Amino acid sequence: MAAGADEIHGIIIVGGGICGLATALALHRKGISSLVLERAETLRATGAGIGIQVNGWRALDQLEVGNELRKLAMPLSGSACRMDKRDIHDSSRAIKVPIRTEFRCLKRSDLLETLAKHLPVGSIRFGCQVEAISLEPITRFPVVSGNDGTSIKAKHAVFAIYPEGHNFANRFQQLIGDGVNFRLIPIDDKIVSFNAIHLQPSKADCSTISRNMELIQLVTLQRMQGFPEEIIDLVRHCDTASLSFTQFCYRAPWHMAFETFQQGTVTVAGDAMHVMGSFLGQGGACGLEDTVVLARCLARTTMSEGVNHSGDDRKLGKSIENGLRLYVKERRWRILMLSFQTFLMGVLVAASSGFKKVLATTVLAVLFRSNCKPKEHTRNSRTPLTRAVPTPGPTHSHWKSWAEWIVEAQARLRRGRSTRRGLSIHVTDRAVTRRALVQHSAAFLDRPATSVPSTILTRSRHHNVLSAPYGPYWRAVRGHVAAGALHPSRLGQLGDLVRALRSGAPAGESLHFAVFSVIAEMCFGEDVVYELGEARLRAILRFQRDLLLALPSFWVFVKYPRIGRLLYTSRWRQLLALRRQQEVSFLPLVAEVRNRKTKARHGSTFTAYVESLRELRVHEDGDRAVTDGELVSLISEFLGAGTESTASALEWTMDNLVKHPEPQRKLRLEVDAVVGSSRDRTVEAADLSRMPYLKAVVLERLRRHPPVPFVLRHVRGRDADAAAGALGVPRLPGGGATVNFLVGKIGRDPAAMMPFGAGRRICPGLAPVVFYLEYFVANLAREFERWEADGEEVDLAEFHGSFFTLMDRPLRARLVPQDAAAAAAARPAK
Ligand SMILES: Cc1cc2nc3c(=O)[nH]c(=O)nc-3n(C[C@H](O)[C@H](O)[C@H](O)COP(=O)(O)OP(=O)(O)OC[C@H]3O[C@@H](n4cnc5c(N)ncnc54)[C@H](O)[C@@H]3O)c2cc1C
Ligand code: HEM
Repeated sequence: MAAGADEIHGIIIVGGGICGLATALALHRKGISSLVLERAETLRATGAGIGIQVNGWRALDQLEVGNELRKLAMPLSGSACRMDKRDIHDSSRAIKVPIRTEFRCLKRSDLLETLAKHLPVGSIRFGCQVEAISLEPITRFPVVSGNDGTSIKAKHAVFAIYPEGHNFANRFQQLIGDGVNFRLIPIDDKIVSFNAIHLQPSKADCSTISRNMELIQLVTLQRMQGFPEEIIDLVRHCDTASLSFTQFCYRAPWHMAFETFQQGTVTVAGDAMHVMGSFLGQGGACGLEDTVVLARCLARTTMSEGVNHSGDDRKLGKSIENGLRLYVKERRWRILMLSFQTFLMGVLVAASSGFKKVLATTVLAVLFRSNCKPKEHTRNSRTPLTRAVPTPGPTHSHWKSWAEWIVEAQARLRRGRSTRRGLSIHVTDRAVTRRALVQHSAAFLDRPATSVPSTILTRSRHHNVLSAPYGPYWRAVRGHVAAGALHPSRLGQLGDLVRALRSGAPAGESLHFAVFSVIAEMCFGEDVVYELGEARLRAILRFQRDLLLALPSFWVFVKYPRIGRLLYTSRWRQLLALRRQQEVSFLPLVAEVRNRKTKARHGSTFTAYVESLRELRVHEDGDRAVTDGELVSLISEFLGAGTESTASALEWTMDNLVKHPEPQRKLRLEVDAVVGSSRDRTVEAADLSRMPYLKAVVLERLRRHPPVPFVLRHVRGRDADAAAGALGVPRLPGGGATVNFLVGKIGRDPAAMMPFGAGRRICPGLAPVVFYLEYFVANLAREFERWEADGEEVDLAEFHGSFFTLMDRPLRARLVPQDAAAAAAARPAK
């Protein structure tokens, strides 16, 4: 999209208020860049505090700033509303309601600064007032032009600071007088934020007092006749410099039902979409929800339609339009209901007629029982956007883990048809698991076809190692997986990772990318990172991850192969587009690798995975080579299975060390003892075998948080009897059985860990993976003196939304380099 004559930007956001910045951050989390144009010269925190309800916190969690902000915010335990104007001074007449969900107040400036802090440098342009937005005729991208504009809305809110501490409880208070609706929220022990909405202000008021702080204070005090003394004192002694007075804008609920909200590639969010009265305190939280949904919808369509990197502007414009359409569709009902509820609350508070009040109360009671509707959105998970599942349907739905999907689906198939379709068995006993997978591995050779991503993606046409039935093809391809392990001397990623972490880049993301780069080099050859460049490589990583997360929603095509694609057409198109995107990304790379192979190879003995696959012949199948379809599935498996599991294991290990300084210290001592004190030398492959503590640390994390927490097998036919014996059940039905060995649970017993599965289908990546994990952890321990939590507590919660068990929140750590720590120690104390 264009921003002025010469500049082209991906997405332009007009307005750097709460929603503008949150939208930019949400898009950033989804890997989409944007530019915020703000007319003010700095971050503008008009108003003092803002009460954020539980849905807002959920959105902030998804933006990955929730915990950081929680530390700056005060939790509120209840609300008290004095609606009776005659007894407004009497606190015992207040209607008190406990708040049982999360509701905290924080300074607006803290919120804005935190959002801005997490944006890439240069994402906000201040002093840039947008005057008009028009659509470019061919691509229908918006063209934004500057200066001069209109003011949008009004509030009158300040802080009052009590150096000795205030006596207001941690409760949201509302006092409804004749002249003003007064709202007060404590931000912490010493600061109280308040705002006073002038009911029916005269035009003269607005024009004369808006620029004079003393007048604002005076007029407000005049309108507060009969208010309790402590509240009057609060206004009388507040810092007038922070007062502001502007006109309040409002959009009626019925507008939400019919307003278009989108024109081509332009849409609105936050107050620009649904500015509402402040009776419910939901404006900001609802705006934050908008931003999360908007980023998801945009990422979903640009990613699924495979156009974000195709360079075709028309296609990109179309997919952005589709994304915005989805966003508006998803938000309309939600904002309609919220603004209707706010409207009814307003009628209840401000109407003079008793009849209107009764009517408003009745409708509120019927439609919005106990004011709980805003919390509906709390189903919106805490899962960060970078981990969120980009699937069709509402973004707040709860996603089951992949294992749950399979098991539940198997159970549904089983009901009433157990003899034909088979039985589903869960195994949590370690002795039974060992007996079955290790001693009787010949009876447990296949996985249920429907449990494997590539079966779903290619509808069983192009197998990879995971999905292949035990047999000649499986034997041929499996042998090649671990063939091309890189020698550490060729691992340039370590240096890149250290540089990224030294520069303060997000730790989780940096580790993830470093692991992906290693796996990509194992797959395509040592030069792939250099030749593709970081941007293209990151794009592949992103769509591979999005694909993985979207897989559960495609299960329907396995269950209903024929009518599924008719019933779920857009999902079906998404699946085809994702597969197509894999083909257009991987096959040219394979051709390049082949060309490269004919040239000089710098004396390297390393053979990339795709090179070895190209040479491969399936002897039992007429000496055939692997097809292009199979190649794409195999590469996708290698990149996906390899990266997510290894990166997850590395993150769990690092996070645990960040949380526990003592093992961190012990590990560092071991590494230094083996490698010596000279900082010039890195940890080499040969050193690792002399570091038993390092091995224990890595294996312990694999045990406690196995990236793949279940191992699935399908047994039938001749194997069924042997399998039944191993499982200790009398016999299996004719349709066979799906057996789910819950190795995650079993591994809680230290003697029984199986993070890589067991038997003939054990993970072929085991040896190189453990080696790379140790290599990265040891070198990072040597390079960085301390790893500390970055601003917030380490949270070891798991996310089960995909095939793998990931961290619910990506690793956040501040790593202090050795040289910086030494310099700090040498500095004389002041
Ligand atoms: C008195 C009051 C109390 C409230 N209390 C709460 C509460 O407790 N909880 C809650 O959740 N919500 C509350 N709200 C609502 C909440 O403040 C808003 O919903 C929220 O600030 C909306 O954010 P926004 O980014 O959409 O708009 P804003 O925060 O208004 O930001 C808009 C930005 O756009 C910029 N801008 C405008 N025009 C242009 C232009 N032409 N070119 C460039 N930049 C431009 C402005 O300078 C501004 O920075 C309250 C609102 C009021 C009025
Ligand atoms: C910490 C990292 C890893 C973990 C925890 C892990 C775990 C697993 C598990 C549990 C299985 C199923 C085993 C079974 O059914 O018995 C598996 C299979 C597999 N893994 Fe891994 N894995 C990891 C890394 C890798 C890597 C890096 C690759 C390749 C680049 C890889 C490729 C495969 C393949 C191809 C299979 C299928 C094997 C078969 O069916 O024969 N894995 N992995």
